Amino acid sequence: MVRGGPRVPGYAILGTLGRGAMGVVYRATDLRLNRTVALKMVLAGGHADDDARARFRVEAQAVARLQHPNIVQIFEVGEADGLPFCALEFVPGGTLAAALAGVPQDSFAAAGRAAVLAGALAAVHAAGLIHCDLKPANVLLAADGTAKITDFGIAKRLDDIAARTIDGQVMGTPSYMAPEQAEGRLDRIGPPTDIWALGAILYEMLTGRPPFRGTGVRDTLDQVLTRDPVPVRRLLPGCPRDLETVCLKCLEKDPARRYSAAAELADDLTRYLTGRPVLARRSGPLEQALKWARRYPYRAATAAAGILLVAAAVAVVTVQARADRVQARVDRAEAEVRRQEVAELRRRDEATNRITSLYRRAEVGTAEADRLPPKPPGGATSGPGSSATPPRPSTSSGGSRTRPPARSATRRRNCSPGRGPGSATPGGGPTPAPGSAS
Ligand SMILES: Nc1ncnc2c1ncn2[C@@H]1O[C@H](COP(=O)(O)OP(=O)(O)O)[C@@H](O)[C@H]1O
Ligand SMILES: [Mg+2]
Repeated sequence: MVRGGPRVPGYAILGTLGRGAMGVVYRATDLRLNRTVALKMVLAGGHADDDARARFRVEAQAVARLQHPNIVQIFEVGEADGLPFCALEFVPGGTLAAALAGVPQDSFAAAGRAAVLAGALAAVHAAGLIHCDLKPANVLLAADGTAKITDFGIAKRLDDIAARTIDGQVMGTPSYMAPEQAEGRLDRIGPPTDIWALGAILYEMLTGRPPFRGTGVRDTLDQVLTRDPVPVRRLLPGCPRDLETVCLKCLEKDPARRYSAAAELADDLTRYLTGRPVLARRSGPLEQALKWARRYPYRAATAAAGILLVAAAVAVVTVQARADRVQARVDRAEAEVRRQEVAELRRRDEATNRITSLYRRAEVGTAEADRLPPKPPGGATSGPGSSATPPRPSTSSGGSRTRPPARSATRRRNCSPGRGPGSATPGGGPTPAPGSAS
């Protein structure tokens, strides 16, 4: 019997199990059934009394709805000395918080415990309730280590949330509180809110610390809202990748990106436990960048502007470099054409000069031949009329026997193909006709 403790008819109070914000939990004997129970009593007075009584009523009604091996059972609700109490199943193994004591647990055991709690959460949600304060201190351990969820003191009824009949007070424990709860967005509270909390418990079981823990309540809430949790495997490299993926999926800031139902989480954990690949997928770099951008729109806009500027600069430099390369190629081609033209002109000049000098030489030869005395009759070239024909002036063509053969032979030897006397000269004028060269 506890000295100075309340008197509750039908129960013998043996000791104190715990003390919370609004009351005390005693270990007691149910005298009618002779079994040990936990007696949870409201001890507040004055103004706080009404609030505490209301919450107590909610809790009693909530727990009374639930029958599950992993949820602490309620036996009786009553009043003693004007104070409400409820008799609960006694769970002797203490809290999960005490059992963890900041020490990382075996991954497989942690996943198993999380799977059990996910199953219990599914039952809570199926009863139309959201726990809203799931944390290691509200998970009790039976003698055989079975985990049981307790403390439905701030549980919300889903139909109240839908009808928005609950106030916007932020309640819960910051390190395990989902962002929507931390923001007081009670309209967004739902099963994923509890899934976040269970993800935080799994994280703590694996790493020995909750995902967010600041220097104070404000700091912790700020981390919950703005930071990503340090990946489990960074703190615990040996943690299986699939288990980390499951855990981080529970801790997605956006409730829509978490498991939508506790049963899905239980199923994925069972997959892991039975060696099957989990259904959760890790977010890729792009997804992570988008999440970051959603969380920090101003910084994202600045970064995007910077990236755009750099991209534009790179594009300009690339286009300019390509244009330069094309221009250089064009320049080279033009230079080659010019070089070929000059070579051709030079070749033509040389050919023209050669032809001209040959004509000159031929004309000099013809003039000398014309000045020679005629050959005596009876020579090799005599023919009908030859002896009678006197030598003619040098410039006339056609009648001379000595000039044409020499000239035509020279032309055949020196003229390039297609370059007749009428062809264009390098200067664009006509090539001097035989005999016209001065
Ligand atoms: N059914 C129970 N069996 C054994 N211990 C309990 C039980 N319920 C509560 N306790 C102990 O009392 C503490 C406070 O209980 P809880 O229901 O969480 O109340 P509070 O709303 O004050 O947090 C728990 O941390 C635990 O140590
Ligand atoms: Mg509690």
